[in-house]
Amino acid sequence: MTPENIVVAVEEIRDKYSGNLMARHFDKGYFNSLDSQLQQQLTKIILTGIKNPDSQMGCYAMNPQDYDLFSPMLDPMIRDFHAISPSAELFQQHDWNTNIESCDLVEIDPCLKDVSMRVRVARNVSTFPLPGAMTKEQHIAFEDMAAQAFTTLSQNPDFGGSYLSMTSGSANEISKSEYDSRVAAHQMFKDMSADPYLNAAGISSDWPHGRGIYMSRDEDFLVWVGEEDHLRIMAMKNDGNLNDLFKRLSEGLEALEKLLPSFATSKSYGNVSCCPTNLGTGMRASLHVKLPMLTSNGHDVGTLKREAKAFGLAVRGAGGEHSDAGEGGLVDISPIARLGVTEMDIMRCLYQGVAKLWEMETAKA
Ligand code: ARG
Repeated sequence: MTPENIVVAVEEIRDKYSGNLMARHFDKGYFNSLDSQLQQQLTKIILTGIKNPDSQMGCYAMNPQDYDLFSPMLDPMIRDFHAISPSAELFQQHDWNTNIESCDLVEIDPCLKDVSMRVRVARNVSTFPLPGAMTKEQHIAFEDMAAQAFTTLSQNPDFGGSYLSMTSGSANEISKSEYDSRVAAHQMFKDMSADPYLNAAGISSDWPHGRGIYMSRDEDFLVWVGEEDHLRIMAMKNDGNLNDLFKRLSEGLEALEKLLPSFATSKSYGNVSCCPTNLGTGMRASLHVKLPMLTSNGHDVGTLKREAKAFGLAVRGAGGEHSDAGEGGLVDISPIARLGVTEMDIMRCLYQGVAKLWEMETAKA
């Protein structure tokens, strides 16, 4: 696409798709002020939002430095998504001290004791480009490096486990049927090449080379390798105790971090992720909970989405991003904020938000 075509395409999208933040914040004057090499770099970053006009964000960074290099375009988008005013100073702080207050869902209602809980952080190392700009060789080299770290981690009594790779010919390669059953169990990530947003950014390129998952023996500490970010590090449990869940992630993250090159960070945005929605803490914490009354048995999630937003929560179907609610009103709820809040704030938002939704649900039952 020529620079002129880019400008025309983005302006057309802006008129028709008011939710596309890339189009909303694209400034023709700024784009035209860049030299042709920078224009090409920026085009690669925003191409996903041009090819997918229904995008919510519409861009993915290709290198950690992009957030500074293209800040006149990206900073307003980031602030818009994360609801941070244009003048507010951005400085990401962290607080993993999640044991100070109890966030056990059983205290809301004993029925919530089997709720499936998941918390993950996105991390990228500073020694590789971000996934959209990685070659096949770099995907494989990154996976080799991660696999070495996992070999050491597997000696750790608390986090020992095994690495399962999807790279053909790799020593840790798993079969297609094992992959499918791990996807069904919500452990392994889905086929990235089926995601048009990732495809347009080159993030799913060379799939499934360099992709895999580390799993602790008890299967509650997991690390995705080569998905949307270099690493997605997560804890999963089904006992309703958010404090234990966050503690498991924080300790596993600390153990793994020691075995890897430093993570890419930014002074303003904290942990660097490909998608600006994940900057800051890089954290997404979620619960799978049945809310039949608030969703008309899963047939109407729209009303719940609006109600949950008031508590800072996003609602998805239980099958992940872009999926619908399941039978019985099974939905995935998670705090929206990731940037400018701490890990502790996210845990508290999830706990207090689910308490309010549960009160509304049971009042209607
Ligand atoms: N790129 C997609 C969009 O702009 C997804 C954004 C958020 N989701 C994500 N997995 N990063 O709508």
